[in-house]
Amino acid sequence: MRKGFKIVAAFLMLFTSFIGLVKQPKVHAEGQTYEIGVAIYQYNDNFMTLFRNELEAYFKELGEADGNTYNLEFQDGKNDQATQTEQLNNFIAQGKDLLIANLVDPTGADQIILNAQSADIPVVLINREPSIETMELWPGKTTYVGVDARQSGVYQGEMIAELDNHGDINGDGKVNYLMIMGDAGNVDAEQRTQYSVETLEKTIPTEILGEAQRGNWDQAKGQEIAANALSQFGDDLEVIFSNNDGMALGAVQAINGAGRKINEDIYIVGVDALPEVVELLGKGEFTGTVLNDHFNQSHTAAEIAIKLLQGEEVAPYFWHDYIKATKPEDAELKRLDYREESIEDYQNRLKETYGE
Ligand code: BGC
Repeated sequence: MRKGFKIVAAFLMLFTSFIGLVKQPKVHAEGQTYEIGVAIYQYNDNFMTLFRNELEAYFKELGEADGNTYNLEFQDGKNDQATQTEQLNNFIAQGKDLLIANLVDPTGADQIILNAQSADIPVVLINREPSIETMELWPGKTTYVGVDARQSGVYQGEMIAELDNHGDINGDGKVNYLMIMGDAGNVDAEQRTQYSVETLEKTIPTEILGEAQRGNWDQAKGQEIAANALSQFGDDLEVIFSNNDGMALGAVQAINGAGRKINEDIYIVGVDALPEVVELLGKGEFTGTVLNDHFNQSHTAAEIAIKLLQGEEVAPYFWHDYIKATKPEDAELKRLDYREESIEDYQNRLKETYGE
């Protein structure tokens, strides 16, 4: 009886692995080499540099543990979608086993995914969230690993609201703020801008000084925008919201240059928890940032990529949380679980949490 059962089980195993081979000709045995093309929107970006380095290091670690070789070829999209599309199409033509893409313009993702699909090359999207329609194009083989930008905006607003004076330094009952934004059409930029102010408004009225301005994630532009605002609005300026820490670091230079004192006569919040900003937090010279957890996002992206390389189908969304950081300990990096979501789960959550 037992022997007969074992034979049937062995046949079943053989049969399923045969089917597996027929269905997924790309499956490699252990000890294999996998070619992975990684397209980064632009190398000249503090946050994406942390992400890229961690991704590379973690793939190496995983390869040492599982005996496979993961060859990563990185390309710098130089913040130009045409250049990046060419780089991705080259990866496809070279027959890479998998693509990891931090798109310059996620609204242009569809054609890239369709091209990858026709060559049967799975795609892991990172950092810039594409639309739900894009995620529906090639289910099971396209996934997004990221964080929900709305949450980072909410946290920025909360950090100001939680101050004793709610950001109202001159006591006139409202908060006068400057908004420094990332580039146009970027989901992170739009959502951080919207949710930071909406959240603060639940506690105290706000008024923007001038118009929201695009610093395109760049430190030098952040400095320029803040310097102009400081000279135009002087002491009226109470809070600076910056869509990322890179631009906020520029604003800090401008604030120092104008002789103002952060956390005494002006507040500033950013996103990313760059090491330079964490250091400032430790000295009480920065109000708050939000950890954009490149450590967990890159580790999860690598782990999901390996599932895809092994022929598995995966969920469309893998999320990590942003973490509010007003002191250095808040921004410590440690491995945390991801949350997996279907498109329907995601849509329901957006409706329930944000009424979208
Ligand atoms: C980060 C920015 C970064 C941008 C690049 C955002 O999620 O917060 O720091 O420059 O992504 O796309």
